[in-house]
Amino acid sequence: MTNAIIKTENLHFSYPAEGTPKVVLDGVDLEIQAGSFVAVLGHNGSGKSTLAKHLNAILLPSGGKVYVSGMDTADESKLLDIRRTVGMVFQNPDNQIVANVVEEDCAFGPENLGVPPAEIRARVDEALKAVGMYDYREHAPHLLSGGQKQRVAIAGILAMRPRCVVLDEPTAMLDPIGRREVLGTIKQLNEAGGVTVVLITHHMDEAAQAGRLVVMAHGKVIADGAPREVFQQVEALRAVGLTVPETVSLLWELRQEGLDVPLDALSDEECAQALFRLLS
Ligand SMILES: Nc1ncnc2c1ncn2[C@@H]1O[C@H](COP(=O)(O)OP(=O)(O)OP(=O)(O)O)[C@@H](O)[C@H]1O
Ligand SMILES: [Mg+2]
Repeated sequence: MTNAIIKTENLHFSYPAEGTPKVVLDGVDLEIQAGSFVAVLGHNGSGKSTLAKHLNAILLPSGGKVYVSGMDTADESKLLDIRRTVGMVFQNPDNQIVANVVEEDCAFGPENLGVPPAEIRARVDEALKAVGMYDYREHAPHLLSGGQKQRVAIAGILAMRPRCVVLDEPTAMLDPIGRREVLGTIKQLNEAGGVTVVLITHHMDEAAQAGRLVVMAHGKVIADGAPREVFQQVEALRAVGLTVPETVSLLWELRQEGLDVPLDALSDEECAQALFRLLS
């Protein structure tokens, strides 16, 4: 396919170590289409964060290739362009906020890119509006809730106008309200803003909302497809220490008992419908 914004080819990676290095990425081939929303799920230590760091050249492959908009991430002369194209959001918002005022924090990225001040002003306003934090632009970030801080961190990345945002468990430190705010923001960026999203998550319900779900285990991709399809691979997912959404799990148990129910219910409503049809 030609519209891939990110492409990995037989990507291998080992962290430098004494003795035999442990293979962390073991032949990952992925194409991420521009404008898509891809979730990445995997057990602890499966290599998700290591993969994420390859997508904007924080790490470089030990073997194979990573291309961002056709640029080889190992090409040092392309580093700035690559970092402009793919923005990265991490787990802990406190580690990503650098200024004492929300709008100054958001201006930090574009300032470093050498964007002219008037343009920065416009970008910061736009980014803060996109994450629903414009009203807080003059506030002190440390007084905000976790969800609000993470949205400010996302705005700081958006102000650099990346075409793609990679988020590594951005909701892991948030309460349910913060999680919902941040996920809503992410979906909005993708749907209304056309930003390509790669969301690394531990939460099935978040993964279920992506257009595509990639499952990693032991440095390899073991499943890749629409969440509705991937979550039906109940045994394969359980075998690598992952659970499936409760709705799928319930229907799967019923199937084990010989009942004729579909497995692809991702919402409570769909699950209720399936049970209703069974009973009527
Ligand atoms: N800086 C590092 N140096 C050495 N080994 C590392 C380093 N970072 C990660 N590892 C190891 O690489 C493997 C993959 O780690 P990685 O952080 O990519 O997994 P992950 O899927 O993101 O896990 P988690 O779900 O816990 O975030 C693990 O075995 C981890 O211990
Ligand atoms: Mg990780």
